[in-house]
Order: sequence, then structure tokens, then C-alpha cells
Amino acid sequence: KRPAGAPDPALAREVTKVGIVGAGLMASQLALLFLRRLQVPVVLTDLDQARVDKGVAYVHAQVDKLVGKGRLDEGTAAKLRGLVSGSVDKSVFADADFVIEAVFENLEIKKQVWAELEKIVSPEAILATNTSSLSVTAMAADLEHPQRVVGVHFFNPVSVMPLVEIVRAERTDDVALATAFAVGKKLRKSCVLVKDAPSFVVNRLLTRFLGETFAAVDAGTPLEVANTALDPLGLPMRPLTLLTMVGPAVALHVAETLHAAFPDRFAVSPNLARVVESGKPLTDRDGEIDPEVAALFEVGS
Ligand code: 3HC
Repeated sequence: KRPAGAPDPALAREVTKVGIVGAGLMASQLALLFLRRLQVPVVLTDLDQARVDKGVAYVHAQVDKLVGKGRLDEGTAAKLRGLVSGSVDKSVFADADFVIEAVFENLEIKKQVWAELEKIVSPEAILATNTSSLSVTAMAADLEHPQRVVGVHFFNPVSVMPLVEIVRAERTDDVALATAFAVGKKLRKSCVLVKDAPSFVVNRLLTRFLGETFAAVDAGTPLEVANTALDPLGLPMRPLTLLTMVGPAVALHVAETLHAAFPDRFAVSPNLARVVESGKPLTDRDGEIDPEVAALFEVGS
């Protein structure tokens, strides 16, 4: 069944090479997913060779792990290893037909990346952004061919989370949108079309969830209590473990974007800002609270 709002799948462009701008946490997970499901050349770029090498090494390590778990045969794994590469030079995107950007969440940086990319890729190439909360319309505003820009928002961990939010910007055309849905389907994700509104849908809900957890702590509820209060609901993760997985800086950026858009509905907790400033996660991967970071909190009466 065609997802609500998705255009005719026959309009979708074939994707024979994928470009990933960025080689960080989301970008390298995206590289792995596109590689596994599309089995076409996937090329990563980043600002320096060390980051590029780290991104490619992550993909290789995950391919090895899949072989170890018996999920991938050695022949396919060898093929996949040969299909992934990285470079600091974006000209490797010249023949890519689908380029997804997962760089730092800053509108000006993203606009610069798009402007640079537009000089390299063909006018038909689809340009996707994995932004978690920025306006896709604003990102594409100064481009020569804004109709091929589309939001394709994945969730962490990328290989496991089934949802993808697909964002139609003001000038996105049906070809770009149909291609995004077709790619999402090949990646075996559930794609939903969402409005190009601040933080789309999921991050609004998650920010409410995390924001209220922080609000309770800001007001004096012990961290441990706020973090475990919902345990009886059987959610897959406690709020502060989720914060660690998403990354405090990303969560703060989403909260700030929502606060700017809806100041009466979304607050930014100063304690969340303190976690980001500390440069350390508030919990470990198992959700254990780090007492040193917790000690930085200032709570109200
Ligand atoms: N990175 C990559 N893979 C991970 C991972 C991680 N950090 N954590 C777990 N996984 C994988 C495991 O390898 C395993 O994969 P497999 O089944 O292929 O072997 C699978 O997830 C399940 O792992 P476990 O059985 O060890 O763990 P759980 O049953 O505890 O599930 C979870 C882990 C799927 C992460 C679950 O806790 C969960 O769903 N948590 C909520 C995640 C969530 O809400 N994500 C959205 C965040 S918001 C976001 O990303 C948007 C952004 O814009 C801010």
C-alpha cells in the first residue's frame, strides 16, 4: 500500500550510487544501511581524512560483525567492503544520484554544503537531508534546483529503528519525493510524509518527553526518580538513556529549535545545557547516571 501523500512510485529515479556528506554517528550508520540494502557504491565525505577513515572503518567493522553473526555471507561481505569508500573531496559525488547530508545541525553550514554540492552533482541528482529539526525549505532556498531537495530523517540506531520521516519542502517535486519513498522502501523502512515544520513530528514528541523529564528534575525531583518513573510502561529506553543515545548536543539543538518556534510550548532546561557543556554524557549506555555530571545540576526550590 502506498503511504499517505506519497506520489506515484513510477516517478522514482533509479539510484546507482549514493553519496553521504559527513562520516559521524548518523552518517556512518546511514552508509552501512544504504550499502547493505542497495548494494551500490556508497561514498562518504567529511572535513578531514581522520573522520573519513573512522566512518569507513565503522562500516567495515559492522560488516564483519554481521558476518560473525551469520547474517551476511563472506561473498556478499567482500562485495560490500569493495563498494564503500571515503574521501575529503566532494567531487566523488559527481556521478551520485542520491546524496544524503548528515552534517552538524546548523542551517548556515548545511546551506553551504548544499551550495557546494550543487556545483558538483548533476541537476537530476536527488539531495536529501537527515536534519532532525531544521527547515528543509530554508535549506534549499538559495539553490538553483531546489525541487530535488527532500528531507529523509532517520532515527538512532539507524539499522534498528523502522521509521523514516520524509519531508516535502515547499518546492520539492514529485520525482524527488517518489525517489525518497522508493529508497526508504528498499532500506526496508516505514516511511511517513511529514510537514516541513520545526522538528517534524517525532522529535516534537521526544522533546516533550525529555523536556518534561528535565522539568521535573529542574523543579527538584531526583534524577533517578524522574528517569525511572515511566518504567512500568515498558518503554524500550529510559529518557536519560535515550538522551545519551541521541547525543545531548543534538537533543539541546532540537529543544532550542522548538523553543524558538513555539516559546510558550517548549522550554530549554538549563540543566540540559549543563550536560552539553560538560562534554560528557549524563548516563552510560546502560543508563547508569554519571554522578560527576549530575553534580553540575542546579535545581529549584
Ligand atoms: N547502535 C547500533 N545498534 C544498536 C545500538 C546502538 N547504539 N543499540 C542497540 N543496537 C542494536 C543491536 O545491535 C541489536 O541489533 P540486532 O538485533 O541486529 O542484533 C538491536 O539493536 C537490539 O539490541 P538489544 O537487543 O541489545 O537491545 P534492546 O532490545 O534493548 O533494544 C534499542 C535496543 C532498539 C535501541 C531499544 O532500546 C530502543 O528502541 N530504544 C529507543 C530508541 C529510540 O527511541 N530512538 C529514536 C531516537 S530519536 C532520534 O534518533 C532522532 C534524532 O533526530 C534525534
